Amino acid sequence: MSPTVPQSDTLTARALDLLAPLQLLLMSLLALPGTLLTHPLLIFHPKSFQSAWFGTLWRKLGPQMALSPEQTPYISGLFGRAKGTVLELGPGSGDQMRHFVQVVQGGRVSRVVGAEPNAVLHEQLGRNARGIGLDPRRGGYVVLEAGAEPASLIPALHRAGLYTSESGDEGVFDTVICVKSMCSAPQDQMVQICTTIQTLLKPGGEFLFFEHVANDRDYITMLWAWLLGWVWPIAMGNCHLNGRVDKVVGQIGGWDSVDVRNTREFRGWNVFRYVVGVCRK
Ligand SMILES: C[S@@+](CC[C@H](N)C(=O)[O-])C[C@H]1O[C@@H](n2cnc3c(N)ncnc32)[C@H](O)[C@@H]1O
Repeated sequence: MSPTVPQSDTLTARALDLLAPLQLLLMSLLALPGTLLTHPLLIFHPKSFQSAWFGTLWRKLGPQMALSPEQTPYISGLFGRAKGTVLELGPGSGDQMRHFVQVVQGGRVSRVVGAEPNAVLHEQLGRNARGIGLDPRRGGYVVLEAGAEPASLIPALHRAGLYTSESGDEGVFDTVICVKSMCSAPQDQMVQICTTIQTLLKPGGEFLFFEHVANDRDYITMLWAWLLGWVWPIAMGNCHLNGRVDKVVGQIGGWDSVDVRNTREFRGWNVFRYVVGVCRK
Protein backbone atom coordinates (compact mmCIF):
# COMPACT_ATOMS: atom_id res chain seq x y z
CA MET A 1 0.00 0.00 0.00
CA SER A 2 1.30 3.46 -0.81
CA PRO A 3 2.12 5.34 2.43
CA THR A 4 0.59 8.50 0.94
CA VAL A 5 -2.87 6.90 0.51
CA PRO A 6 -5.05 7.15 3.65
CA GLN A 7 -6.43 3.80 4.85
CA SER A 8 -10.09 4.81 4.35
CA ASP A 9 -9.44 5.79 0.73
CA THR A 10 -7.80 2.44 0.16
CA LEU A 11 -10.77 0.58 1.63
CA THR A 12 -13.24 2.64 -0.43
CA ALA A 13 -11.17 2.14 -3.56
CA ARG A 14 -11.00 -1.55 -2.85
CA ALA A 15 -14.77 -1.86 -2.28
CA LEU A 16 -15.48 0.09 -5.48
CA ASP A 17 -13.13 -2.14 -7.42
CA LEU A 18 -14.84 -5.29 -6.14
CA LEU A 19 -18.21 -3.82 -7.17
CA ALA A 20 -17.05 -2.75 -10.66
CA PRO A 21 -17.86 -6.12 -12.29
CA LEU A 22 -21.41 -5.93 -10.92
CA GLN A 23 -21.96 -2.67 -12.79
CA LEU A 24 -20.89 -4.37 -16.04
CA LEU A 25 -23.11 -7.37 -15.27
CA LEU A 26 -26.06 -5.01 -14.77
CA MET A 27 -25.40 -3.36 -18.15
CA SER A 28 -25.31 -6.80 -19.72
CA LEU A 29 -28.64 -7.73 -18.09
CA LEU A 30 -30.17 -4.49 -19.41
CA ALA A 31 -29.09 -5.51 -22.93
CA LEU A 32 -30.93 -8.83 -22.57
CA PRO A 33 -34.58 -7.75 -23.20
CA GLY A 34 -33.59 -5.86 -26.39
CA THR A 35 -31.72 -8.94 -27.66
CA LEU A 36 -34.70 -11.18 -26.89
CA LEU A 37 -37.02 -8.82 -28.76
CA THR A 38 -34.81 -8.48 -31.84
CA HIS A 39 -33.62 -12.12 -31.99
CA PRO A 40 -36.41 -14.20 -30.35
CA LEU A 41 -35.71 -17.36 -32.36
CA LEU A 42 -32.04 -17.43 -31.40
CA ILE A 43 -32.91 -18.68 -27.90
CA PHE A 44 -33.00 -22.13 -29.53
CA HIS A 45 -29.35 -21.59 -30.58
CA PRO A 46 -27.57 -20.64 -27.33
CA LYS A 47 -24.20 -19.83 -28.93
CA SER A 48 -25.71 -17.52 -31.54
CA PHE A 49 -27.94 -15.94 -28.91
CA GLN A 50 -24.90 -15.26 -26.71
CA SER A 51 -23.15 -13.58 -29.68
CA ALA A 52 -26.20 -11.41 -30.39
CA TRP A 53 -26.50 -10.52 -26.68
CA PHE A 54 -22.84 -9.54 -26.43
CA GLY A 55 -23.18 -7.64 -29.74
CA THR A 56 -26.07 -5.57 -28.30
CA LEU A 57 -24.05 -4.87 -25.15
CA TRP A 58 -20.74 -4.15 -26.88
CA ARG A 59 -22.16 -1.73 -29.46
CA LYS A 60 -23.01 0.51 -26.46
CA LEU A 61 -20.18 -0.35 -24.08
CA GLY A 62 -17.28 -0.75 -26.54
CA PRO A 63 -17.06 2.92 -27.66
CA GLN A 64 -17.29 4.08 -24.00
CA MET A 65 -14.62 1.69 -22.77
CA ALA A 66 -12.31 2.59 -25.63
CA LEU A 67 -12.21 6.16 -24.26
CA SER A 68 -10.92 5.10 -20.82
CA PRO A 69 -8.29 7.70 -19.84
CA GLU A 70 -6.37 5.10 -17.79
CA GLN A 71 -6.18 2.54 -20.59
CA THR A 72 -5.78 4.74 -23.65
CA PRO A 73 -2.07 5.61 -23.22
CA TYR A 74 -1.11 1.91 -22.96
CA ILE A 75 -3.30 0.85 -25.89
CA SER A 76 -2.23 3.69 -28.14
CA GLY A 77 1.43 2.96 -27.28
CA LEU A 78 1.00 -0.65 -28.45
CA PHE A 79 -0.80 0.29 -31.69
CA GLY A 80 1.97 2.82 -32.31
CA ARG A 81 4.51 -0.07 -32.34
CA ALA A 82 2.59 -2.00 -35.02
CA LYS A 83 4.27 -2.36 -38.39
CA GLY A 84 3.89 -4.07 -41.77
CA THR A 85 1.16 -6.68 -41.99
CA VAL A 86 -0.80 -6.84 -38.74
CA LEU A 87 -3.08 -9.49 -37.29
CA GLU A 88 -5.50 -8.22 -34.64
CA LEU A 89 -7.22 -10.87 -32.55
CA GLY A 90 -10.70 -9.96 -31.29
CA PRO A 91 -10.99 -6.37 -32.59
CA GLY A 92 -14.71 -6.30 -31.73
CA SER A 93 -16.42 -3.47 -33.59
CA GLY A 94 -13.10 -1.70 -34.15
CA ASP A 95 -13.46 0.83 -31.35
CA GLN A 96 -9.67 0.87 -30.91
CA MET A 97 -9.11 1.44 -34.63
CA ARG A 98 -8.32 5.14 -34.18
CA HIS A 99 -4.99 4.15 -32.60
CA PHE A 100 -3.92 2.76 -36.00
CA VAL A 101 -4.38 6.14 -37.74
CA GLN A 102 -0.82 7.36 -37.29
CA VAL A 103 0.92 4.14 -38.34
CA VAL A 104 -1.43 3.65 -41.29
CA GLN A 105 -1.16 7.21 -42.56
CA GLY A 106 2.59 7.19 -42.00
CA GLY A 107 2.83 4.06 -44.21
CA ARG A 108 4.24 1.91 -41.36
CA VAL A 109 1.27 -0.46 -41.45
CA SER A 110 0.15 -1.65 -44.87
CA ARG A 111 -2.58 -4.13 -44.07
CA VAL A 112 -4.59 -5.30 -41.05
CA VAL A 113 -6.31 -8.64 -40.66
CA GLY A 114 -8.99 -8.61 -37.96
CA ALA A 115 -9.93 -12.06 -36.62
CA GLU A 116 -13.26 -11.43 -34.88
CA PRO A 117 -15.40 -14.51 -34.04
CA ASN A 118 -18.58 -12.50 -33.37
CA ALA A 119 -20.01 -11.79 -36.84
CA VAL A 120 -22.60 -9.43 -35.30
CA LEU A 121 -19.77 -6.89 -34.90
CA HIS A 122 -18.33 -7.21 -38.44
CA GLU A 123 -20.35 -4.48 -40.14
CA GLN A 124 -19.24 -1.81 -37.65
CA LEU A 125 -15.69 -3.19 -37.74
CA GLY A 126 -15.57 -2.72 -41.54
CA ARG A 127 -17.00 0.81 -41.21
CA ASN A 128 -14.38 1.76 -38.62
CA ALA A 129 -11.60 0.34 -40.84
CA ARG A 130 -12.82 2.41 -43.82
CA GLY A 131 -12.90 5.43 -41.53
CA ILE A 132 -9.11 5.30 -41.09
CA GLY A 133 -8.34 4.54 -44.73
CA LEU A 134 -8.11 0.73 -44.52
CA ASP A 135 -10.84 -0.24 -46.94
CA PRO A 136 -11.97 -3.90 -46.62
CA ARG A 137 -13.16 -3.80 -50.28
CA ARG A 138 -9.62 -2.97 -51.39
CA GLY A 139 -7.93 -5.50 -49.12
CA GLY A 140 -6.52 -2.88 -46.72
CA TYR A 141 -8.50 -4.50 -43.92
CA VAL A 142 -9.46 -8.16 -44.00
CA VAL A 143 -12.22 -9.32 -41.65
CA LEU A 144 -12.07 -13.00 -40.68
CA GLU A 145 -14.78 -14.77 -38.70
CA ALA A 146 -12.38 -16.57 -36.37
CA GLY A 147 -11.23 -16.81 -32.78
CA ALA A 148 -7.62 -16.89 -31.60
CA GLU A 149 -7.61 -20.66 -31.04
CA PRO A 150 -5.65 -22.45 -33.79
CA ALA A 151 -8.56 -24.69 -34.84
CA SER A 152 -10.51 -21.57 -35.74
CA LEU A 153 -7.75 -19.12 -36.78
CA ILE A 154 -5.56 -21.27 -39.04
CA PRO A 155 -8.36 -22.56 -41.35
CA ALA A 156 -9.72 -18.98 -41.63
CA LEU A 157 -6.26 -17.68 -42.61
CA HIS A 158 -5.95 -20.53 -45.13
CA ARG A 159 -9.36 -19.77 -46.66
CA ALA A 160 -8.40 -16.10 -47.02
CA GLY A 161 -5.11 -17.14 -48.71
CA LEU A 162 -3.09 -15.44 -45.96
CA TYR A 163 -1.29 -18.53 -44.68
CA THR A 164 -0.42 -21.69 -46.54
CA SER A 165 1.18 -24.97 -45.55
CA GLU A 166 4.37 -23.65 -47.23
CA SER A 167 4.43 -20.57 -44.99
CA GLY A 168 6.05 -22.72 -42.27
CA ASP A 169 7.93 -21.17 -39.33
CA GLU A 170 8.99 -18.09 -41.30
CA GLY A 171 5.70 -16.46 -40.37
CA VAL A 172 3.48 -14.07 -42.31
CA PHE A 173 2.74 -11.20 -39.89
CA ASP A 174 4.99 -8.44 -38.61
CA THR A 175 2.72 -7.75 -35.66
CA VAL A 176 0.04 -9.65 -33.78
CA ILE A 177 -1.95 -7.41 -31.44
CA CYS A 178 -4.84 -7.94 -29.06
CA VAL A 179 -6.69 -5.71 -26.66
CA LYS A 180 -8.95 -7.27 -24.02
CA SER A 181 -9.77 -10.27 -26.18
CA MET A 182 -7.52 -13.08 -24.90
CA CYS A 183 -9.79 -13.22 -21.83
CA SER A 184 -12.55 -14.46 -24.16
CA ALA A 185 -10.43 -17.15 -25.80
CA PRO A 186 -10.46 -20.63 -24.19
CA GLN A 187 -7.94 -20.41 -21.33
CA ASP A 188 -7.17 -24.14 -21.51
CA GLN A 189 -5.87 -23.56 -25.06
CA MET A 190 -3.66 -20.58 -24.20
CA VAL A 191 -0.42 -22.52 -24.77
CA GLN A 192 -1.53 -23.50 -28.30
CA ILE A 193 -2.78 -19.96 -28.94
CA CYS A 194 0.50 -18.31 -27.93
CA THR A 195 2.57 -20.92 -29.80
CA THR A 196 0.50 -20.31 -32.93
CA ILE A 197 0.92 -16.54 -32.60
CA GLN A 198 4.69 -17.10 -32.39
CA THR A 199 4.62 -19.30 -35.50
CA LEU A 200 2.55 -16.73 -37.42
CA LEU A 201 5.04 -13.95 -36.65
CA LYS A 202 7.99 -13.26 -38.94
CA PRO A 203 11.43 -13.22 -37.28
CA GLY A 204 11.71 -9.86 -35.48
CA GLY A 205 7.90 -9.57 -35.38
CA GLU A 206 6.11 -8.63 -32.17
CA PHE A 207 3.16 -9.95 -30.18
CA LEU A 208 1.61 -6.93 -28.44
CA PHE A 209 -1.16 -7.17 -25.89
CA PHE A 210 -3.17 -5.19 -23.39
CA GLU A 211 -5.21 -7.70 -21.40
CA HIS A 212 -6.81 -8.28 -18.04
CA VAL A 213 -5.54 -11.44 -16.37
CA ALA A 214 -6.10 -13.33 -13.14
CA ASN A 215 -5.30 -11.54 -9.90
CA ASP A 216 -3.05 -14.09 -8.20
CA ARG A 217 -1.97 -11.86 -5.34
CA ASP A 218 -5.00 -11.19 -3.14
CA TYR A 219 -7.10 -14.02 -1.71
CA ILE A 220 -10.29 -11.95 -1.27
CA THR A 221 -10.17 -10.83 -4.90
CA MET A 222 -9.37 -14.36 -6.05
CA LEU A 223 -12.41 -15.71 -4.19
CA TRP A 224 -14.63 -12.93 -5.56
CA ALA A 225 -13.39 -13.56 -9.11
CA TRP A 226 -14.04 -17.27 -8.67
CA LEU A 227 -17.64 -16.60 -7.51
CA LEU A 228 -18.26 -14.16 -10.37
CA GLY A 229 -16.81 -16.73 -12.73
CA TRP A 230 -20.03 -18.76 -12.50
CA VAL A 231 -22.02 -16.10 -14.37
CA TRP A 232 -19.44 -13.71 -15.86
CA PRO A 233 -18.63 -15.64 -19.08
CA ILE A 234 -22.34 -16.20 -19.81
CA ALA A 235 -23.23 -12.52 -19.53
CA MET A 236 -19.99 -11.07 -20.94
CA GLY A 237 -19.51 -12.87 -24.25
CA ASN A 238 -17.37 -15.66 -22.80
CA CYS A 239 -14.94 -13.29 -21.05
CA HIS A 240 -13.02 -14.89 -18.15
CA LEU A 241 -11.60 -13.25 -15.04
CA ASN A 242 -8.83 -15.85 -14.78
CA GLY A 243 -6.92 -14.95 -17.96
CA ARG A 244 -3.39 -16.39 -18.16
CA VAL A 245 -1.80 -14.99 -21.32
CA ASP A 246 0.76 -13.14 -19.13
CA LYS A 247 1.98 -16.45 -17.64
CA VAL A 248 1.80 -18.52 -20.81
CA VAL A 249 3.85 -16.22 -23.08
CA GLY A 250 6.76 -16.62 -20.67
CA GLN A 251 6.29 -20.39 -20.29
CA ILE A 252 6.37 -21.30 -23.98
CA GLY A 253 9.85 -19.82 -24.56
CA GLY A 254 11.16 -19.25 -28.09
CA TRP A 255 10.99 -15.43 -27.90
CA ASP A 256 13.93 -13.13 -28.44
CA SER A 257 12.57 -11.00 -25.59
CA VAL A 258 9.49 -10.92 -23.37
CA ASP A 259 8.33 -7.88 -21.43
CA VAL A 260 5.05 -8.20 -19.51
CA ARG A 261 4.14 -5.60 -16.87
CA ASN A 262 1.19 -4.74 -14.67
CA THR A 263 -0.19 -1.31 -15.48
CA ARG A 264 0.71 1.44 -13.03
CA GLU A 265 -2.93 1.48 -11.83
CA PHE A 266 -2.71 -2.04 -10.36
CA ARG A 267 -2.99 -1.82 -6.58
CA GLY A 268 -2.78 -5.51 -5.74
CA TRP A 269 -6.48 -6.13 -5.10
CA ASN A 270 -8.05 -5.21 -8.45
CA VAL A 271 -10.38 -7.78 -10.05
CA PHE A 272 -9.19 -6.59 -13.45
CA ARG A 273 -5.40 -6.85 -13.32
CA TYR A 274 -4.34 -5.25 -16.59
CA VAL A 275 -1.01 -6.14 -18.16
CA VAL A 276 0.88 -4.74 -21.12
CA GLY A 277 2.95 -7.25 -23.07
CA VAL A 278 5.58 -6.94 -25.78
CA CYS A 279 7.07 -10.26 -27.00
CA ARG A 280 9.61 -10.15 -29.80
CA LYS A 281 10.25 -13.22 -31.97
C1 LIG B 1 -14.06 -6.97 -24.57
S1 LIG B 1 -14.20 -7.17 -26.28
C2 LIG B 1 -12.81 -6.21 -26.86
C3 LIG B 1 -12.96 -5.74 -28.28
C4 LIG B 1 -11.86 -4.81 -28.77
N1 LIG B 1 -10.57 -5.45 -28.74
C5 LIG B 1 -11.85 -3.53 -27.99
O1 LIG B 1 -10.95 -3.34 -27.17
O2 LIG B 1 -12.74 -2.71 -28.23
C6 LIG B 1 -13.62 -8.86 -26.51
C7 LIG B 1 -13.58 -9.28 -27.94
O3 LIG B 1 -13.00 -10.59 -28.02
C8 LIG B 1 -13.75 -11.33 -28.96
N2 LIG B 1 -13.55 -12.78 -28.75
C9 LIG B 1 -14.44 -13.66 -28.24
N3 LIG B 1 -13.93 -14.91 -28.28
C10 LIG B 1 -12.70 -14.80 -28.82
C11 LIG B 1 -11.69 -15.74 -29.15
N4 LIG B 1 -11.86 -17.05 -28.92
N5 LIG B 1 -10.56 -15.31 -29.73
C12 LIG B 1 -10.38 -13.97 -29.95
N6 LIG B 1 -11.30 -13.03 -29.66
C13 LIG B 1 -12.44 -13.44 -29.10
C14 LIG B 1 -15.17 -10.88 -28.72
O4 LIG B 1 -16.02 -11.22 -29.78
C15 LIG B 1 -14.96 -9.38 -28.56
O5 LIG B 1 -14.99 -8.73 -29.77
